[in-house]
Amino acid sequence: MFEAPKLVDDLNVTLARYAVFGHPVGHSKSPQIHRAFAHQLGIALRYDAIDAAPGTLATALSRFAAEGGVGANITLPLKGEAFAAARAHSARAQKLGVANTLAWRGDHWYADNTDGEGLIRDLGERHRIDLRGRRVLLVGAGGAAQGVLPALLEAGIAKVTITNRTPERADQLCDWIGDPARVQTWYLDDLRRAGDFDAVFNATSAGQSGQAVDLPFSIANPRTLAYDLSYGKAASAFLAWAKTADCAYALDGLGMLVEQAALAFALWHGQRPETEPVYAQLRAEARG
Ligand code: ATR
Repeated sequence: MFEAPKLVDDLNVTLARYAVFGHPVGHSKSPQIHRAFAHQLGIALRYDAIDAAPGTLATALSRFAAEGGVGANITLPLKGEAFAAARAHSARAQKLGVANTLAWRGDHWYADNTDGEGLIRDLGERHRIDLRGRRVLLVGAGGAAQGVLPALLEAGIAKVTITNRTPERADQLCDWIGDPARVQTWYLDDLRRAGDFDAVFNATSAGQSGQAVDLPFSIANPRTLAYDLSYGKAASAFLAWAKTADCAYALDGLGMLVEQAALAFALWHGQRPETEPVYAQLRAEARG
């Protein structure tokens, strides 16, 4: 259903080109998602996955533009390099200093970051969860945590507590966001004394290496939303914790992935695709 028609693939020399850049990139679902959106809206395009080793993205992007590339999604660990390779930036990319979406503007790349809005749309539109007034625990203080923190605050949460294995990084993230009335940090080892939260977001990469962050059940209550920004195997340990903790919701980041892609697609094509059928397909595939 998501594969581009054979005829279009064969004519790819004339098609506008899009790609996801990452390292590694073979696992990326972006080609499948963007081909599905394009199919839905009757847009002919070519979408590839391109591996670029760290330090080589700017060169790879120049080559890509010379070959007809007009849009790029950027995944780990290249989001900082993508920002640096662009000459113009959206306000939200500027704030973050990292980009997940690039659009070719004739003679330069324009950078945006759709991750935070993707998360908020997944929660608000797919799951009908209103974050306003919520007390949030953000676990992790790396790139993923930084990427969603401004959007969480803009969504109207009351307070966010950042906790991280390395406390100094939590402090740095807290200083960077500069909202002391709403953002504080807490030692991971001391979370038992932090009380409970309306929402807990796992923004660590622990699950990607088969590890789990040791979280006490006392941070959850039966109304708590537990959300892992990753999906698949990487999210399974946190989601298992959330179910055992009896959280009201235990969600992974698959919806966020589809929503951030839809926002990139809209930037490139001026049309917003329907995300639900694509999300449903990916969810069904994930269930096997
Ligand atoms: P990303 O861009 O995916 O956020 P990152 O910037 O390397 O990647 O950040 C990874 C995050 O996961 C960090 O918050 C990291 O904690 P440290 O700052 O202490 O390194 C966290 N993390 C990774 N593995 C973890 C583990 N096993 N337990 C707890 N936290 C972990």
